[in-house]
Amino acid sequence: TVGRMDRWDMSRMPAFSDPSQQNQSDQTPLRIGVMASGNGSNFEALAQAIDAGTLAAEIRLLVVNNPGCGAQQRAQRLGIPCTVLDHRVLRERERLDQALVDCFRSAAVEVIVMAGWMRIVTPVLINGFADRLVNIHPSLLPSFKGLDGIGQALAAGVKITGCSVHLVTAELDGGPILAQAAVPVEERDTHTSLSERVHQAEHRLLPEAINAMIPVWRQG
Ligand code: GRF
Repeated sequence: TVGRMDRWDMSRMPAFSDPSQQNQSDQTPLRIGVMASGNGSNFEALAQAIDAGTLAAEIRLLVVNNPGCGAQQRAQRLGIPCTVLDHRVLRERERLDQALVDCFRSAAVEVIVMAGWMRIVTPVLINGFADRLVNIHPSLLPSFKGLDGIGQALAAGVKITGCSVHLVTAELDGGPILAQAAVPVEERDTHTSLSERVHQAEHRLLPEAINAMIPVWRQG
């Protein structure tokens, strides 16, 4: 499994090796917010990478839309603040997104990571955090956008799939790709077995991709 940072970010990457280019704020942990709807294993992978010292960030706030979901339980166990914004209460997409923007701004969040957020987002959120809203998707984009990237890969019979970390734009799963990891599909793979290996790849790739972007965000 290989994570790659290429094209888009290289052109915007500052001269990070030159210490004079690093201002004071580069030393402080990146303040991230996380959005999750379900299990939350990617959310926990971010927390673990922070603890391990491989991601120079702090998770200021988790927002979930499903009360009691796995991600919320993980946040409780990890001692990370969690807010529930239930889409059954905030029924209009724009209202939900405005509430997300408000919560993350109050928590002084610099960058938002969508880690299994199963709602379509609107320009209210996308423009509120322009170039600072990241998503992880379980396929090698631009293949298999939308729901069930794993099932789509199995149905297509591809021999290699994987995961992608990308910036969120108005086009669903279509923003600039920051990093990808490849996962070979095996003959005997089921949805469960392939999903497990893609998740393992995601847990490595997501913190790595976020960490590599910190100098870009701090300069922007
Ligand atoms: C991941 O496969 C991610 O790519 C997709 O949703 C899934 C979330 O898994 N967007 P988890 O909740 O982090 O375990």
